[in-house]
Amino acid sequence: MGGLIRMQTRVLVAYATRYGSTQEIAEVIVATLRESGLEVDIEPAKEVKALEGYTAVVLGAPIYMLRWHKEAKSFLSRYREALMKRPVAVFALGPFYDEEEEWKEVRAQLDKELEKFPWLTPVAIEIFGGKYDEEKLRFPDNILVRLPGSPLHNMPAIDIRDWDAIRDWASKLVAQFQPALAH
Ligand SMILES: Cc1cc2nc3c(=O)[nH]c(=O)nc-3n(C[C@H](O)[C@H](O)[C@H](O)COP(=O)(O)O)c2cc1C
Repeated sequence: MGGLIRMQTRVLVAYATRYGSTQEIAEVIVATLRESGLEVDIEPAKEVKALEGYTAVVLGAPIYMLRWHKEAKSFLSRYREALMKRPVAVFALGPFYDEEEEWKEVRAQLDKELEKFPWLTPVAIEIFGGKYDEEKLRFPDNILVRLPGSPLHNMPAIDIRDWDAIRDWASKLVAQFQPALAH
């Protein structure tokens, strides 16, 4: 007689960031998942040592110059085997304008990056708005944004992260992260 074993859901939220805005989103996702009763750890993607013990993974990172943060990509490469066996949710930052066209473009940028990992079939993929403050940029970003033709130069500081949308997305992950019931 096999008993019904319900595996504990344990989630790792891994993130990459340059200026902290992605980390803050990761923290809100963690809080939301914990409120739903899940066990959750959070770690910078580059510091993750193993995925054993986790039943699901959230990976978030910003897009810079059309590229997803390289620490997110190296995380996917490093943990390919483990990630193939677990539900993975992915998010990226970050458009600055509330314009559908821009969001579509950013989604296309992320999709292009994810194409490099054809084995990955995320249970959810989301784009969140980003944060920008030229004053806080370090080298080389502070130089890049001043190059001729850069749309970012002299752009006022902005933060369009939508915390309700972020919490909403995280809540929806809970059902997708429930492991199958095992006999
Ligand atoms: C130099 C620079 C280039 C950027 N390039 C892109 C881009 O190609 N696509 C995009 O969606 N966002 C782009 N962004 C916006 C960032 O993704 C956004 O500022 C995000 O909030 C940064 O996250 P972080 O604070 O975690 O580093 C760029 C920002 C900077 C400063």
